[in-house]
Amino acid sequence: MLEQIKTTAAYIKSKISIEPEIGIILGTGLGGLVKEINIKHTIPYEEIPNFPVSTVEGHTGKLIFGELGGKNVVAMQGRFHFYEGYDMQQVTFPVRVMKFLGIQKLFVSNASGGVNPNFEIGDLMIINDHINLFPSNPLIGKNMAELGPRFPDMSDAYNKDLIDKAKQVASANNIKVQEGVYAGLTGPTFETPAEYKYVFNVGADAVGMSTVPEVIVARHMGIPCFAMSIITDLGVPGKIVQVTHEEVQHVAAQAEKKMTLIMKELMKLI
Ligand code: HPA
Repeated sequence: MLEQIKTTAAYIKSKISIEPEIGIILGTGLGGLVKEINIKHTIPYEEIPNFPVSTVEGHTGKLIFGELGGKNVVAMQGRFHFYEGYDMQQVTFPVRVMKFLGIQKLFVSNASGGVNPNFEIGDLMIINDHINLFPSNPLIGKNMAELGPRFPDMSDAYNKDLIDKAKQVASANNIKVQEGVYAGLTGPTFETPAEYKYVFNVGADAVGMSTVPEVIVARHMGIPCFAMSIITDLGVPGKIVQVTHEEVQHVAAQAEKKMTLIMKELMKLI
């Protein structure tokens, strides 16, 4: 695995002329941040040795290198989900490669279902903690000591300084943001009403099918993380209606401008 990571990073380095400081994973319907990047290089996933290839509609599958908010960034346009059949190692492989490309921080976005009764459709939520409800963990197996410790601390999974700065940016721009706990589970089914209630009762504010594996792997390697979610539907009793992937993409696309602004302005502050 370590050899694969190094081979892949070496291949990518041979194709690019910048060293990215910040890695970005763009979630469902959130690819618009790419328009803000002053793009220097684009590498489709299928050209990258050892990279899985994304299969979901709305995920185009490219690594984008360029400048955003004065920082050199590498953005993943399209991520790998556990529900697509990839194992946890494959889902998180690009994050490990980004570490070897030199990233010092990881920004993540996703779409999620809100279970906090105070949330509304289209809200942005800064993720301040997570609950791993996947039936696995990407660090299961022999620990790769070159990457990080056997038993990584998770008391600070989402960096407090980045959260504070993002809240400052939001308030300076009159953007309403929620803050809360993201529960990650496999999908691909959206939740039953009983499952939404369960997720709320275990302490989450929102639920989705990504992010947790990537953040675990990033924290294993000591990378500070910042993550934001767009609440695309509500799993709140009395407000539950049918959810479709198209609706999730539609709401995400509408809220995307606000999230893009926060991410871009946050880049300038760090
Ligand atoms: N549940 C899980 N994942 C999601 C949801 C949801 O309600 N909305 C967007 N992604």
